[in-house]
Amino acid sequence: MTTPPGPQPAPARRVTVLDLAAARRAGRPISMVTAYDWPTGRLADAAGVDCVLVGDSVAMVVAGRSSTIPATLEQMIYHGEIVSRAVARALVVVDLPFPLQHLGVRTAIEACSRILKETGCQAVKLEGTAGQADVIAGLVAAGIPVMGHVGLRPQAVHQLGGYRLQRDVDVLMADARAAAAAGAFAVVLECVPRSAAAAITAALDVPTIGIGAGPDCDGQVLVMHDLAGLSFDRVPRFVRSYVDAGAAIGAALERWRQDVERRDFPGAAETLG
Ligand code: KIV
Repeated sequence: MTTPPGPQPAPARRVTVLDLAAARRAGRPISMVTAYDWPTGRLADAAGVDCVLVGDSVAMVVAGRSSTIPATLEQMIYHGEIVSRAVARALVVVDLPFPLQHLGVRTAIEACSRILKETGCQAVKLEGTAGQADVIAGLVAAGIPVMGHVGLRPQAVHQLGGYRLQRDVDVLMADARAAAAAGAFAVVLECVPRSAAAAITAALDVPTIGIGAGPDCDGQVLVMHDLAGLSFDRVPRFVRSYVDAGAAIGAALERWRQDVERRDFPGAAETLG
């Protein structure tokens, strides 16, 4: 980076958890996208999305790991703090990394309060089944807004046998109901059949945000790098890629390398003095 990152974003009224509830009541679809750094945070906020998620998918799409399991609390705080400074309007949600939601209410409160205090984000997201409802309730009682995440829980990928559609409607319904009853302000539904997502969305009184869950959720979330063509592996069928930024950057780099090799860069315009 040869230039400073530019002025701080202009103050704007922050989207709140109440706005998401109002969007659901009004039937206005909620948009959430992941971001992990200053440029992706700025771009997501400028695009007017409702929520920016600092997902533990950072371990995969930024760090090239094969799952989200290696993401650490320190890494989530590092990325969450950068994104929170970049985003002025959208609600910033930071993932609680594995296995902190499984170590009891006190550990979860300690970890989530660090996330809130040290990043400046407004909410945390945690993956879990009905078995984590007490942890959600404890966090909410402590004043920490929680987004639940049920269905395909990537942190449990080895237990679930891979990144696959979750078909047990009774389990999905029970997990989503438990998260909402415990006080989650919204619930992510990942990789579930459309009919299950529709039934859960009708049953809950908080917004559902789907990924690979069909069009009947109250909102949709995608991973920035999948949406922008920056994921090198095959993207899941539920992803729509809107731009091939990877190809554009690759072509630009090749042109620059060729310019260097034929001494066409730097030219007069890029030469100082
Ligand atoms: O970490 C992440 O990016 C997520 C989304 C897939 C919802 O949890």
